[in-house]
Amino acid sequence: MATVVEPTAVALETVVRPPKRLLYGPGPGQVHPRVYQAMAQPIVGHLDPYFFEVSSAIDRLLRTVFGTKNEITFVISATGSGGMETAITNFIQPGAKVVVFANGFFCDRQSEMARRQGAEVVRFEKPWGEVFADDEARDFIKREKPQVVTYVQAETSAGAFQQGKAICEAAHEVGGLVIADCVTSLGAMPVEVDKTGIDIAYSCSQKGLSCPPGLSPLTVSPRAMEWLKSRTTPNRSWYFDIKLITDYLIESHRYHHTASATMFYAMREGLALIEEEGLENRWERHHEAHLEFVKKVEKLGLEMHVPKPADRIWNLNTPKVPQGVDDAKVRTTLLKENGIEIAGGFGQLAGKVFRVGLMGPLATSESVTHFMHCFESALRGAGYKG
Ligand SMILES: Cc1ncc(COP(=O)(O)O)c(C=O)c1O
Repeated sequence: MATVVEPTAVALETVVRPPKRLLYGPGPGQVHPRVYQAMAQPIVGHLDPYFFEVSSAIDRLLRTVFGTKNEITFVISATGSGGMETAITNFIQPGAKVVVFANGFFCDRQSEMARRQGAEVVRFEKPWGEVFADDEARDFIKREKPQVVTYVQAETSAGAFQQGKAICEAAHEVGGLVIADCVTSLGAMPVEVDKTGIDIAYSCSQKGLSCPPGLSPLTVSPRAMEWLKSRTTPNRSWYFDIKLITDYLIESHRYHHTASATMFYAMREGLALIEEEGLENRWERHHEAHLEFVKKVEKLGLEMHVPKPADRIWNLNTPKVPQGVDDAKVRTTLLKENGIEIAGGFGQLAGKVFRVGLMGPLATSESVTHFMHCFESALRGAGYKG
C-alpha cells in the first residue's frame, strides 16, 4: 500500500545540521525564532486565497516601515539585488541620462546595472565612507539634468548613511525620478520614503527585517507609476516587470511566477514583530545599541571609519582595523571560538575596517556586551596592544 504523507506533517528530523552562529555581520542578520516558526508551516500555492491574504498584509505593513502611502508596495521574489534590478530596468530606458551618487560598492552596482540598460551614467564620486552635502548634491543634479538619480541610503560597504531630501527635491525640479537603495536601513532606521521624496525604494529581507534572504520589498510613488504607464519602450526584463508583478500580486491575481509561500510567511512574521514592537521603538533600540557599540569600541582605542556620528548607519558599524592587526585573523578567531560572524572591508576598504551588524534580535545592550567581550579577546589574540 502506498504511504500517505499527511499534508500538515512537519518533519521533526532532518539531515541539515548547521553550526550555531551569531550573525553580527552586514547581513544576513540573526533571524527571529518566530520567523523560523512561521517558515515551518505548510505551504499553500502561489494562487491560493490565503497566499494573497498574507501578501496583502505584507504590503500594508511594508507601507508603515517604508514610511509611505504608495499603493504599489510589495515584495519581489529575489534578494536585494533583484529589487535594484527591478528599479533600474523599469525606470531607466536605453539612452536615459542617469546620475549616480557613488560612495561605495552598491552605488557601483547601480551604475553597472544602469549601463547595462543602455543608460548614459554620470557619476558624482566620493571616497567610501563620505556622504554628499545638500548643496553639492543639488548643484550636480541641476547641472546634469538627469532623467533618473540613484543613491544608496545606507552604504553597507562603508557604513555611511546618505540623507536624501535635497537629492529628491533637486531631481524633481529637473523632472527626474529618484531611486533609493534602502537594503540595509529598512526596519532598523528611518527610511521615510514620502517625507524624503523618494520615487522608488527597494530593500531586502535579511537585514533590518530579521528574515532570511530571498525577498526584496519595493515601493513606487504614484508619480513614478504615471511615468511607467506612459513608457513606450518595452521593459527589457520580463521577470522584474512591475506592471506584470502588480497584476499578479495586487490586481488580477493571475499567475506570473511561483512565489515562495515560505518566504512570504517569513516576511509576514518579521513585519508582525515590528508592528508589535512599534516602529519607532525598534529604531530607538537599534540607535541605542549603535551608540553603546561606538562608546565601547572607542574606549577600546579603535576609531570609527565614518567620522561624523550623524552620518553613521545604526545597524552596520565600521570601526577601523587598528595598525598592525590582521583583520582576517580576528574574524577567524571570532568564528572558530565564539561562532560569531562579522565581515571585513573590501574594495577601497579591504583590510581597513571591520563591518559589524547589530540588527533585529542582536540590537540589544546584552548583545553588544557579549560581542565586545569576544571582539576584544580576538583583537588581543591578533596582537592588539591598545
Ligand atoms: C546597500 C546594499 N544594496 C544592495 C545589496 C544587494 O543585496 P543582496 O545581496 O540581497 O542581493 C546589498 C547587500 O548586502 C546592500 O548592502
